[in-house]
Formats: sequence, C-alpha cells, structure tokens
Amino acid sequence: MSSSKQAEEGGVDKVESNGRILIVDDESNAVKVLSSILSKDGYDVLESWNVERAIKIIRKEDVDVVVTDLKMPGKDGMQLFEYISENYSEIPVIFLTAYGTVESAVHTITNGAFYYFIKPLDYLKFKAILARAVQQRRLKKELHALKKRLSEQDRQPTIIGNTPGILKIFETINAVKDSVSSVLICGETGTGKELIARALHYNSKRKDKPFVAVNCASIPRELLESELFGYEKGAFTGAVSRRIGKFEEAAGGTVFLDEIGELEPSLQAKLLRVLQERKLERLGSNKKTNVEFRLISSTNRNLEKEIQAGNFREDLFYRINVISINVPPLRDRKDDIPLLVSEFVNEFCVRENKVLSVSDEVMRIFQDYHWPGNIRQLRNVVERAVVLARGSTITTKDLPRELLFAGRRQKAQDYAVTVTLRELEIQAIRNALRKCNGNKSRAAKMLGISRKTFYKRLKEELFPLETKFL
Ligand SMILES: Nc1ncnc2c1ncn2[C@@H]1O[C@H](COP(=O)(O)OP(=O)(O)OP(=O)(O)O)[C@@H](O)[C@H]1O
Ligand SMILES: [Mg+2]
Repeated sequence: MSSSKQAEEGGVDKVESNGRILIVDDESNAVKVLSSILSKDGYDVLESWNVERAIKIIRKEDVDVVVTDLKMPGKDGMQLFEYISENYSEIPVIFLTAYGTVESAVHTITNGAFYYFIKPLDYLKFKAILARAVQQRRLKKELHALKKRLSEQDRQPTIIGNTPGILKIFETINAVKDSVSSVLICGETGTGKELIARALHYNSKRKDKPFVAVNCASIPRELLESELFGYEKGAFTGAVSRRIGKFEEAAGGTVFLDEIGELEPSLQAKLLRVLQERKLERLGSNKKTNVEFRLISSTNRNLEKEIQAGNFREDLFYRINVISINVPPLRDRKDDIPLLVSEFVNEFCVRENKVLSVSDEVMRIFQDYHWPGNIRQLRNVVERAVVLARGSTITTKDLPRELLFAGRRQKAQDYAVTVTLRELEIQAIRNALRKCNGNKSRAAKMLGISRKTFYKRLKEELFPLETKFL
C-alpha cells in the first residue's frame, strides 16, 4: 500500500488530540511508562511489543508518528522502518536505542528516519521532537489532500449541452455557486446530477475545500449514521478509535447527499437538526461540535409525493430545497445528443487510439431512442461502440440489441395505432351505411356527424375509390 493510498482511505482523524503515536518496544515496562507520559500530554497512544503487531496497527489506524526500539527479538526496528518508508513514507519514525547500537541508529537517520534517542530518555527533549514530528506528518497529509483535490478539479468533466433546459442550469450554477444555501438536484438516473453538484462545488469559492459525496442508498442505515456523524472510541463494538464523520470532514467544503430520498426517518430528523444548528454530536459523545459545509442533495424520486406518502419529512424538504435544480431527461433534450455523442466518441477514441465517425443511421437511432438511463446510458453505448467498431465508422453493428429492437418496436407500434384507428373509422362508416341501407343522411345522423362531414370523410380520406361508386 502506498502512502497516498493510506491518506485516501483516511477519513479517520484525530480531533482535539495532539496526535496518534505508536510505541513499539519489546520491553513492556518501557512501553507503559512512555505511554502514560504521552497520554497525560494529550496524545492518543497505541502500543505494540513486536513489529508484526505494529504493522497491523499502522495499516488500520491513522498513526501520526512511530516511536520504536531498534533492537528487538524477531523482526527489529530497522525492518519496521523499512516497511514504513516503503508504504507509509509520510509517517515520521523516531528510534530509541541503547548505547551499544548508536551506529545503526545513525545509519537510520541517513536513510530518512526523523530522529534517534539514546536510552534513558531525556523526556523534555523527546517531547519537543515528537511535537515537531507530528506537525511534519500533518503538514504532509494536508499537502497530499490539497494535491488530490487540485487534481480532482482538473479531472472534472465539463457539462455538455446547448438546449434551453441545460443552459438554464448553467445560469443557476453561476448564480448560486458561492451561496451557502442548500441545493436540491432532481432528475432521473444518469441525467448528470452528480456532475452538476461537482460543478457547483468546483466553480465556487469552496473549491479548495473537500467535496464529500455520500450515497444514502448504498450504505446500510447503521453504517450511514456513523459515516455522516462520526463516532467516539468505544461508541459501539468495533469503534476502536475516534472517527470523524462526513459533515466534519467537509470542513468548509460541500457535502453531497446522493439519493437523499432513501434516508431513514430517524436520520432525516438528525440531518434536520444539523442543518438548523450547524452543530452535531458524534455517536457516543454528548459534546456538540461545530460543522460548516454546504449541502447539495440529489434525488430521482418525487420528494413531494414521498412527503404525502409520509416517507419524507416536509420540514427537512424545505431545508434542503432552498434552491432547486431540475435536470431534464435526455429524451426531452434530444438536440443535445449529437454534441454529447461527438464528445464521447472523441473521449473514447483517444483512449482506444482510434479515429471514428458515426453513421447517419446510428445517429438517427440515437435520436429516436428514449434513453431510460439517460446520459450515462448514452455514454456507455458510445464506449461500447467505439471499442467494437472496425474500420472508420460506427455502424448499427456496433450498437446493443435493445437500441435496434426499440427502434423497430416503436415503428411497429406507430403503425399498429394508425391502422387500427383508420380501420375503426372505416368499419363504423360501413356499418352505419349497411344499417341505413345506404342512406347517407341517416348514416351520418347515426354516427353523430353532419352530412357534410360524412361526405367529406367518405370522399377525401377513407375510401376515395369506393365513393366513386356511391
Ligand atoms: N451534460 C453532460 N455532459 C457530459 N457528461 C455528462 C453529462 N451529464 C451526465 N454526464 C455523464 O453521465 C454519467 C452519469 O452522470 P451522473 O453520475 O452525474 O448522473 P446522476 O444523475 O447522478 O445519476 P444517478 O441518479 O444514477 O446517480 C457520468 O459519466 C457523467 O459524466
Ligand atoms: Mg448520482
């Protein structure tokens, strides 16, 4: 695991603690003494008596600094240091060493260790160096997070579209991006709700702060609660250390609650309280922590209906829906299809190292299709077609069956409807004429239309040939 991987998996953080220190020493007494001194100084201390256990802890916990003995039975401090340098290069390592091993301790420094101390420890000096090590690790972590956010900004895809519906969304984004008011984005699946949420964030003055997305539908309820609100060590079985939640993690940025319609009633109540008070309590804590974030939510459900059905709180709805953005489905903005197709074809051609155009027939099928999965589906269809295409053109051969069949089915259905209506009309006129023994005035009366209309129908539209003989 690389150090960047570790920071990504972060989410775990210490709030109010001076830092999380792992002490590794085979002499349990030495560990205990140091541990109690550091705990009193406000550090979170983790302990290990051997290297294997130390590695396990480093993998699981968000350790700021490792303090390790050099000589230990089995794997020694040097080997632990090598592991950390390779996998968690952001964690500073401080060595403790007995007098006889000073030479190897010096060697560790040239290899990048943070410091070494000769036992017995000069605690005052040790504490000063430790504080600096924690600070260094935090700066590195911040720098890493910042770099990650900057590269995320660069990677944001642009929202493509030129139709009135999407232009109006651009206008709204520009108008409200810097406000703190909550935004609710509604639209069918795959219409670009998350893309719009990201555009709101990355075009705003919050862009250097985190954009934290949580999908309310894909996380089980109990987990979702701790994801959002965080927890204290010991809040429940398995809460081995304190963890901050997504609202705190956003720290001045944006929280994106995807599929907010799926939020359970008890969590709806908790969210409402956070939005009202701008404070929250981590699970297992009775202390309130201030939170500052902008909320963007999205839903593909009709929340007004959910309110009527008693599934969604009305008061929460008004809180999250100060600004609303409705994203039209793709079938209602078909004029954007050529633009989107050309963008996606370009994107995947670059990836696949191909040069391709799209046949007229394929474009016609795209324009006629109803796109239940909206832009996501279009993008997937284009990706597949680019990969499959041989030669220089994307043809119907490269399309999935459902698109081809949908086209045929639609045509057949249109045909069936017109034929039926026409036939019904002809049938009615024929029946009427038969019943009235060919008397057109009576037949017209029977059908409830004027004689003039009846004639017109007969002559112009229905059976012009037959009328010749009437
Ligand atoms: N206007 C657009 N221009 C370019 N790409 C788009 C556009 N809208 C959506 N996409 C692309 O379509 C895919 C789906 O978009 P997104 O995830 O934002 O949809 P969603 O509305 O959040 O869907 P769901 O409701 O299923 O979560 C993404 O790959 C996104 O980049
Ligand atoms: Mg989404």
